[in-house]
Amino acid sequence: MQLSKSMLKALNEQVTHEFYAAHLYLSMSAHFESSNLPGFARWMQLQSKEENGHAMKIYKYIHERNDRVTLDAIDKPPTEFKKPLDVMKQALEHEKKVSGLINNLYEMAVKEKDYPTQVMLQWFITEQVEEEKTASDIIELLKQVGDAPAGLIMLDRQLGARAGE
Ligand code: FEO
Repeated sequence: MQLSKSMLKALNEQVTHEFYAAHLYLSMSAHFESSNLPGFARWMQLQSKEENGHAMKIYKYIHERNDRVTLDAIDKPPTEFKKPLDVMKQALEHEKKVSGLINNLYEMAVKEKDYPTQVMLQWFITEQVEEEKTASDIIELLKQVGDAPAGLIMLDRQLGARAGE
């Protein structure tokens, strides 16, 4: 079974959305680098890498279905950010938006009775729950820290310990 034209278009768009997320988080990482928060910077850089992985998962899937990806332009991400709490809130909002996009894709796959795409998307649905939870947890920690510099330094160390390269 071939991907429908509308499904191919929507999956292609999702590849671009995931690359945009990678761009956004890398921009946040650059902000943290220049804010003397290397742990936050590392965490965001790894997050950006994960988003690249998400884009490539869909990229590979489209080709597995014997179709082809058409890459599109990636929007310029914001480059100016506020406090860590605001940045993490912005990241959470973005994840919620992505969850909505994934849910829309799934709905489309259900309507079209495209079972392989449903199975592929299930991984993303689970991933989105995790991504939203992780961002929310960091927001909670940041709220507890408030304006205490010592707390922020500790949290920076904690985030910097995130596994990955
Ligand atoms: Fe690719 Fe963070 O969702």
